Amino acid sequence: MQTRPATLADIPSIMQLERQSATAGHWTEEQYRHAFQRDGATRLVLVGSEDSETSPAGFLVAQHLPPEWELENIVVAPTARRNGLGKRLLDSLLDAAKKTNSTAVFLEVRESNAAARTLYKRTGFEQTGHRKAYYKNPSEDAVLYRLTLP
Ligand SMILES: CC(C)(COP(=O)(O)OP(=O)(O)OC[C@H]1O[C@@H](n2cnc3c(N)ncnc32)[C@H](O)[C@@H]1OP(=O)(O)O)[C@@H](O)C(=O)NCCC(=O)NCCS
Repeated sequence: MQTRPATLADIPSIMQLERQSATAGHWTEEQYRHAFQRDGATRLVLVGSEDSETSPAGFLVAQHLPPEWELENIVVAPTARRNGLGKRLLDSLLDAAKKTNSTAVFLEVRESNAAARTLYKRTGFEQTGHRKAYYKNPSEDAVLYRLTLP
């Protein structure tokens, strides 16, 4: 398993991964392109794969809101799950956050998303709040998590 910074050329793979996953955040191609522009918010877009020869099996998008980072999306292909790639992507975000002298990483997730919630808890995130009916289609509460960096 390895991760690397994504490039514009990875957008089709990223969108294909995202479309396979109902619980992922859904962005337009325009929004992904914007994530690579320098005039907007600073974003980290990472892709992960089994090795350097294979196409991306997962990705992560995070936004730098100094002194913190927000994890906006993380997706691993259904056929590649439970193999450590989600954790590897998340650990790469934490490494990047430490390098930018950040104080915390935060995120929100659908209450029913047991896989993602278990991954976050295992990585050291703590539940910090709850937002009633935060998500639409279908309506669902959000659970907020935060990991304070050392
Ligand atoms: C959440 C997601 C990214 C996890 O990716 P992954 O590569 O399967 O995760 P990992 O293999 O690194 O799992 C690390 C740990 O997380 C936990 N975990 C991951 N998936 C789990 C599941 N389905 N059930 C319970 N625990 C799970 C386990 O503790 C796991 O360690 P283990 O396999 O040694 O028990 C993946 O399930 C996914 O893409 N889901 C759909 C998209 C999504 O909902 N993203 C979150 C949006 S906020």
